[in-house]
Amino acid sequence: MARLVWALALVGALGRAAPFDNSSSSVRVSWVGDAPSQNFGTTFGLPWPQGKYQPEEVDFRISNEEIPLQSWVTGYWRDGSIKWSAHAIPRTDNVADEYTIEVTPVSKHRHQTTRMSVKDRDSEVTVNTGKITVSFPKKGRHIVGSIKTAGGKTVGINGRLVLYSQNSIPDTASSRTSTTIDRHNFESNIEEVTVSKDNSVRTLVTVRGKHTAIEGSDHDDWLPFVLRFYLYTDSDAIRLVHSITFDGENDKDFISGLGIQFQVPLKGEKLYNRHVRLAGTDGGFLNEAVKGITGLRRDPGAEVRTAQFEGKALPDESTWDTRVTTRLQWIPAWNDYSLSQLSPDGFTLKKRTQPGQSWVNIPGGTRSGGLAYLGGATQGGLAVAQRDFWKRYPTGLDIANAGSDEGQITLWLYSPDAAPLDLRPYHDGMGQDTYEKQLDALEITYEDYEAGFDTPYGIARTNEIFLYAFDSTPSSDTLAELNALAQEPPVLVAQPEYIKETKALGSYWALPDDSSPARTKIESNLDFLVRHYQKEVEARRWYGFLDYGDIMHTYDVDRHQWRYDIGGYAWDNSELSPDLFVWQYFLRTGRADVYRFAETLTRHTGEVDSYHIGDWKGLGTRHGVTHWADSAKQARISQPQYRKYFFYLSGGDERTGELLEDTLDADMTYGILDPQRKVRTDGWKPSPGAPVTFGLGTDWAALAAGWLIEWERRGPRWEEARKKLAGTAAGIAKLKNGFVTGSGSYLIENGTLLPPPTDPDNQGVVAISHLNAVFGMPEVISELLEYWGDDGAAPEGFEEAWLDYAYYYGATAEEQQTRYGQSFTGVSLVQAHSRLAAYYAASQKNATVAARAWSDYLGSDGFRDTQEFVAVRVDGSAVIHPVDEAAWLSTNDFAQYGLASIQNLAYISNSLENSV
Ligand SMILES: *[C@@H]1O[C@H](CO)[C@@H](O)[C@H](O)[C@H]1NC(C)=O
Ligand SMILES: *[C@@H]1O[C@H](CO)[C@@H](O)[C@H](O)[C@H]1NC(C)=O
Ligand SMILES: *[C@@H]1O[C@H](CO)[C@@H](O)[C@H](O)[C@H]1NC(C)=O
Repeated sequence: MARLVWALALVGALGRAAPFDNSSSSVRVSWVGDAPSQNFGTTFGLPWPQGKYQPEEVDFRISNEEIPLQSWVTGYWRDGSIKWSAHAIPRTDNVADEYTIEVTPVSKHRHQTTRMSVKDRDSEVTVNTGKITVSFPKKGRHIVGSIKTAGGKTVGINGRLVLYSQNSIPDTASSRTSTTIDRHNFESNIEEVTVSKDNSVRTLVTVRGKHTAIEGSDHDDWLPFVLRFYLYTDSDAIRLVHSITFDGENDKDFISGLGIQFQVPLKGEKLYNRHVRLAGTDGGFLNEAVKGITGLRRDPGAEVRTAQFEGKALPDESTWDTRVTTRLQWIPAWNDYSLSQLSPDGFTLKKRTQPGQSWVNIPGGTRSGGLAYLGGATQGGLAVAQRDFWKRYPTGLDIANAGSDEGQITLWLYSPDAAPLDLRPYHDGMGQDTYEKQLDALEITYEDYEAGFDTPYGIARTNEIFLYAFDSTPSSDTLAELNALAQEPPVLVAQPEYIKETKALGSYWALPDDSSPARTKIESNLDFLVRHYQKEVEARRWYGFLDYGDIMHTYDVDRHQWRYDIGGYAWDNSELSPDLFVWQYFLRTGRADVYRFAETLTRHTGEVDSYHIGDWKGLGTRHGVTHWADSAKQARISQPQYRKYFFYLSGGDERTGELLEDTLDADMTYGILDPQRKVRTDGWKPSPGAPVTFGLGTDWAALAAGWLIEWERRGPRWEEARKKLAGTAAGIAKLKNGFVTGSGSYLIENGTLLPPPTDPDNQGVVAISHLNAVFGMPEVISELLEYWGDDGAAPEGFEEAWLDYAYYYGATAEEQQTRYGQSFTGVSLVQAHSRLAAYYAASQKNATVAARAWSDYLGSDGFRDTQEFVAVRVDGSAVIHPVDEAAWLSTNDFAQYGLASIQNLAYISNSLENSV
């Protein structure tokens, strides 16, 4: 009986035979976490099962609410049916808890009424959402020309990017006098402005350019930027995704300020009707007027005082106490305000009447919400907010010239009050001038150093900024609410059950299941792990301009501290795929905290840990003390699979799409850079144009993921990608020992794969690595096989080659010997690989192998079944502040235990109870 149930479960697990409910034509989407208090427009993605809808045959609409929907396709199945659609909804007065997206036959007279108007002229793009009109000049320095409200108020003009840099940093305070510093000021210089085509609900304006020197600075244009402005029908909010790529020299181009600045027209507004709002902590605000009329020796009247505090226009001066009105000229006007968040634990605040006069301190606080407003009670104003403001310290908010005809708001993504951003190596190489020395040093600090490789040239960073326009100064409660939305922009997503049924993100995960003590225990362990890392971000202050979003690799039990300063043990840089674990955990739980954690990880690892320009474009950097310093530049770290979940779920986040495109050139790097160069014994050397050798695990799986995504998206290079996928997979299938061969010879120009140089005649090589299958290979191959399907599209022998690898990695030495003529050496990460055996067991319906998988999972390495998932409080003088320590936990195990648990439960859960 147990066996029968089991076999049925297996069919469901790999499930090409499982029928999908093809009758339903609607899908529910709901908010991640609680429904937001407001919706100012959002975009989301929806998966669809293979064969269900052809793009040209269907339309989408929202069936439970009378709101328009803009829809487009972001991914296709192999047969051309829709795999992923993206949808945008406008700002709405009410927010429903969920929406029902209905698929309807395409209507001949598709007629979208829209209040959005977009004009694309030679000189500028103008977008009118119905609530605001925004102009985007196509040339010059102004990334935004003007922001006008429907009420006719111009609340922001001449938006521009600002950048400061300097060519050196004094080593000590006392050497300041002897250090000559050249300082440079830059502003945005636009090179290209494009606007989306279908704009019925959402318009995307993309502005590209570089920072160009001003004020007589002698410096080339540099630090390229991409700004993506998202505007929704009926919305007075603008979402801006701001990305920069570092293309300077790390010992000459120290960023000492990076921001975005807007002028706010205030001409004609009385100084006492001009308002400054700066976000404090927990929804708090500094509420001030440029000319305050509260707290004075003479009282203008309670009504006047209250109106000013609330940001309302003051009653006519004739109604005030004349002892005040006759003396208004003696009340100072506060022109400038400045908030600096130089640490994640505190911000300072100050103001002054004008340059040349001293600043007056304003009591500060811990963590600023990151929103600044400047405007007038009658003329309206502008608010600028940064997502994760304090988490991305050093940041800042400045208001300037608030008493003049044009005030100014600057949001500092990198505060000019902070020490400059120092991207130099943290050590001088310590004499490691040969591979022998470098490998010997790796033996002690685990750092893989090589001179010249510790460069940040080509890394990137993305920030999210929100702009809000107002006809009059809003209440601070309103600003607090808008800022809460900027910190956690509302996200719509389909139910986990539905996403799973579509198989659009694979068949390797299932929903949580508490139906037995053994399952409950695994669920509780997974929950512990994901919560623990979220708490560690705060406990260990994993924050900062570049660092926020990463986690650490290994713990130092003696110091009660992560090994933040020890070579290859510090920043994790996606080592062993924590990104995959956290995203798959979100898919199965739908939990809001997990979504936010995963999104933050993706935004960091995809940008900072990878190269986006230059010779290593498409490669990432191995884990280390600085994100870009290690000399292992590899495709496994920039693995596109890590970005795939967010890309599709977000409705095709355009920045992430661009990062996915960057990785399509990763195969070109093998012609100039051999990832195995320090440990290669076969004498092979790369030369451009000649066949290259690469690993069939970490390298091929990353390239394959990028090719598959490009094929799914039907991107501009999809046919090349499909050809390379098929060519390399066929090549692997033809190797005598398939994946067990370990590496192959790849012809970049036509995407074919031949036996490795050590075995030109394909006699059979046995060279497995414990790392091959822990950087996304199981996910990529199972998705790829499902994509090819059962009708002969997959290269012959490819699935068998993968099943062999999945079976034999954890098989006995005798079995390996019988199959390959020798047993494997270097097998480790056995628990991690139990999911390969589970895949094999599910695919081949083999209960013996399923039992082996559970036995490897429960009692080999990683976390054994006896491991207690607990943290212990450490406090007192042993630690910088009290922490809950899980000294038994490393991030490799976090990631791979997580993935093994999720995938074993998906493939072979019904034999778990018999195995514990
Ligand atoms: C779903 O139904 C359509 C026709 O309505 C059909 O063409 C398609 O093959 C079906 N898909 C599946 C997976 O059964
Ligand atoms: C790929 O290129 C190599 C070398 O130019 C050539 O020998 C081989 O036949 C080509 N294969 C295909 C499938 O085009
Ligand atoms: C399952 O795999 C084992 C090898 O581990 C093999 O001996 C057995 O015949 C297989 N069983 C089935 C039902 O295929």
